[in-house]
Amino acid sequence: MRVAVLASGRGSNLAALLEARSRGELPVEFVLVASDKATAGALRLAEAAGIPTLALAPRSYPDRRAFDRDLFTRTADSGAELLVLAGFMRILDGETLAPWVGRMINIHPSLLPKYRGLHTHRRALEAGDREHGASVHFVTAELDGGPVIAQARMAIQPGDDEDRLAQRLLSHEHRLLPAVLALLATRRLQWQNQAPQLDGQALTAPLVLGEQGLQHAE
Ligand code: GRF
Repeated sequence: MRVAVLASGRGSNLAALLEARSRGELPVEFVLVASDKATAGALRLAEAAGIPTLALAPRSYPDRRAFDRDLFTRTADSGAELLVLAGFMRILDGETLAPWVGRMINIHPSLLPKYRGLHTHRRALEAGDREHGASVHFVTAELDGGPVIAQARMAIQPGDDEDRLAQRLLSHEHRLLPAVLALLATRRLQWQNQAPQLDGQALTAPLVLGEQGLQHAE
């Protein structure tokens, strides 16, 4: 499966995808890594891996929709069948992304539907939550609101602060995203009738990441 990755930042999730592919666990071809930030670490990682890159500056477009249209046009031109948002920090225009619904996933650092948007670690701590986590979901026009495919859960420990929590969660994210992408790449996970389907059955609850990989929730 031909995959494009959109990322705004350091790209540790992209690195995890590249490593999973190197280990032979991810039957995909990365055809493009695109960013809204020319300085994104993700672009440097892609260059080092020999993957075509694209940096588009939002400021050189009249509005959000114009930027998104160009981004999606160029992404389609790369031959990508699937888009992975791996730390892509822009809200996408609903109309522009519509043709990609079912073919675009995002990783979000919270146990959705809790804490859509920013500052998820801080919000989990402030709420006194005992558990935190990350979710991979299909992207729809609703911000961080598309159907959740899988989650990684972890306990919040005494003494955790925002940075420590974010750091610990990242190692879970780095297992979660490749595992979900592998399900899509092998076509076990599909988008049917506006909802996720796994092995031909509607996915009624998010899968959970365990020691052995993704499992159905108990
Ligand atoms: C991750 O925490 C991801 O969940 C969020 O942005 C962060 C990206 O980190 N959407 P990286 O650029 O992949 O290191």
